Amino acid sequence: MGSHNIVMLAGDGIGPEVMSEVKKVISWLESNGDISFTIHEDHLGGSAIDAYGVPLTDETLEQCRASDAIIMGSVGGPKWDNVDYNIRPEAGLLKLRKELDLFANLRPALVFDALVDASSLKPEIVKGLDILIVRELTGGVYFGEPRGIEDLGNGERRGFNTQTYTTSEIRRIGVAAFELARKRGGRVTSCEKANVMESGKLWREEMTKLHGEGFDDVELSHMYADNCAMQLLRNPKQFDVIVTDNLFGDILSDEAAMLTGSLGMLPSASLGAPGVPGLYEPVHGSAPDIAGQGKANPLATILSFAMALRYSLDRGDLADRIETAVQDVLSSGTRTADIMAEGCKEISTSAMGDALIAVLDSKLAEAA
Ligand code: IPM
Ligand code: MG
Repeated sequence: MGSHNIVMLAGDGIGPEVMSEVKKVISWLESNGDISFTIHEDHLGGSAIDAYGVPLTDETLEQCRASDAIIMGSVGGPKWDNVDYNIRPEAGLLKLRKELDLFANLRPALVFDALVDASSLKPEIVKGLDILIVRELTGGVYFGEPRGIEDLGNGERRGFNTQTYTTSEIRRIGVAAFELARKRGGRVTSCEKANVMESGKLWREEMTKLHGEGFDDVELSHMYADNCAMQLLRNPKQFDVIVTDNLFGDILSDEAAMLTGSLGMLPSASLGAPGVPGLYEPVHGSAPDIAGQGKANPLATILSFAMALRYSLDRGDLADRIETAVQDVLSSGTRTADIMAEGCKEISTSAMGDALIAVLDSKLAEAA
């Protein structure tokens, strides 16, 4: 049995705390799941600035490139507010995504039955919700040139960024969305602002063309991104797969996350070409306000690791086990602060990890 090479980048804020709970799951799998891992721990973001002076070193990048999967916590925080903009913590994450060409960011928003009441929306609106946002991750305004802040000389300055998409960038994320939809509900909603932006007009035209070239078994509809933001609150269950650009995807995925009750529950996978390691990270940020207090919810990062098992390590069976255990642990009424509800018991980050391991243990005993 080969060992899977994992690079673990805990990052900043609550990153290290939630990553400790992933380590518990990894040890449990090694003891009970006929799988073994070689873990390389390293720094990304602010912690890398502190350790190495830059948010992502070339050495770390090469370790990542040579791995089977990368699991990340979160980056950023006020401590690094004053570092040079080019080496801010987020720049490390963006560079990692870009260098590995991880263009497809999968952000599933799933409402667990036990968490229906944690959503700020009415239970009937969100119960059973299962949507997938496919966000383009290496193009658009995040990376477009020219960009910058220029001095206009008259006391005025001008900040500018460029939204750009090429045919091939649109087509490859379109293919990913259509293929994923085939394995789910068979429907894709493509979101842009074709009514305002040329890049959106091109996006819509290319998606339509691609759809006609071998994907017409999937249902395709188009929606303006602002309408999509509204529809996600009005009737989120109308969606199956939403495919959208980098910036709209960033925003719509935070919105979709809250439908599920908490950002602390949402995992993500960033995938590139076959053979390139995937990057797995929670959708939530580094939450510096609660860092180090044992309040963070580790489930989004644990579920991200489950996605790594499914998409990079070909162990969907173990991913299923972890996901079922998460459901059971929530049903048992133990909650971290972010998803706390009446009648439930509030527990710490590490107690949540322990509770999950206890469920995995008892499932294993039942099966034996
Ligand atoms: C995300 C985050 C990142 C992004 C930040 C940390 C650079 O918000 O993954 O959604 O904007 O992509
Ligand atoms: Mg975001």
